[in-house]
This record gives sequence, structure tokens and C-alpha cells, in this order.
Amino acid sequence: MLYRGLVVPGDKLGRKLGYPTANLKISPTVLPKDGVYAGEVFGDKLGVRLGAVSVGRRPTVAGNKRVFEVYIPGFKGNLYGTKLQVSLVKKIRGQKKFASIEDLKRQIAEDVRKILSLKKEDRARDRQTPDRKKTSRLSELKKSRPKKA
Ligand SMILES: Cc1cc2nc3c(=O)[nH]c(=O)nc-3n(C[C@H](O)[C@H](O)[C@H](O)COP(=O)(O)O)c2cc1C
Repeated sequence: MLYRGLVVPGDKLGRKLGYPTANLKISPTVLPKDGVYAGEVFGDKLGVRLGAVSVGRRPTVAGNKRVFEVYIPGFKGNLYGTKLQVSLVKKIRGQKKFASIEDLKRQIAEDVRKILSLKKEDRARDRQTPDRKKTSRLSELKKSRPKKA
């Protein structure tokens, strides 16, 4: 699913957490199910980037509104007022209430590691594809070679 929205200010706690997120203004009627997702983010200032998406009420910090926010590993610019498109690739887990901000921080670090490793798996698959093609082409050549009398 592809989600599109304007980046609006959040509570700015994310910066203190070390994981600043872009909060997207998306109509509650079309929000996906609460959870943490691996996503692909598209934006004029970004190009295409990998993102860790959190959808929900953020029970750890007693948020009440459901929010759609995305942390983009390695990105440090300002995205307020710009439009982002986010494509959700895979659900990683549900939203959880953590006993402390430290525990939440550790879990987000783990989520980001997981999401980045999904990308590595993708690249590894991409690298395998040409070899597979080579093999199949080779076997086709063998098949089409005229048999010796
Ligand atoms: C990958 C990721 C996973 C998250 N998972 C949870 C969660 O399980 N529970 C929770 O209460 N908040 C979760 N959050 C939301 C954080 O609480 C939120 O980013 C933080 O409160 C900062 O929000 P703000 O930038 O609007 O201030 C997650 C955020 C990210 C980026």
C-alpha cells in the first residue's frame, strides 16, 4: 500500500530519543493497522530511501492520536512542509507499551537493524539473478546443440 502525506510537526520527542521521525498527515480513515513496518520512502529531498514506519498511539509516551511516522536511517535534513510517499513493504511487529524510554530506544534500534538487513537480503537476491539467468541460458544452449550422429 502507498501512503502520501504532508510532513507535520510531532511532539519532537523523537529527537531526544535519537530517532527523529517525519510525522505524516494522513486521514485516520485510511491509516493502516497499528504496528511497525519496513517501508520505502519517496520524496523530493530524499529520492528513494528505506524507512522504519510506526503507526499507532505510541502507548509508551501516552500519545492519544493515532500517528503515522517514519524514521529514515542516515537522513538528517528538515522535511517539514514537504510531501512524502511511503510504501509499506513488510510488517515487523505490533505497537507495544515499554516500561521505559530506554527500552523503547533499544527496540527501535533492533527494528532498524532488521529493516536494513531486509534490504541486504534483497541485494543478495538481485546479485543471484544474473547468475541464474546465465545458467539457464547455458542449459538452453546445451539443449539446442545438435546431437552427434
Ligand atoms: C521504528 C519505530 C518503532 C516504534 N515503536 C513504538 C512502540 O512500539 N511503542 C511506542 O509507544 N512508540 C513507538 N514508536 C514511536 C515513538 O514513541 C515516537 O517516535 C516518539 O514518541 C517520538 O514521537 P514525536 O517525534 O512525535 O515526538 C516507534 C517509532 C519508531 C520510529
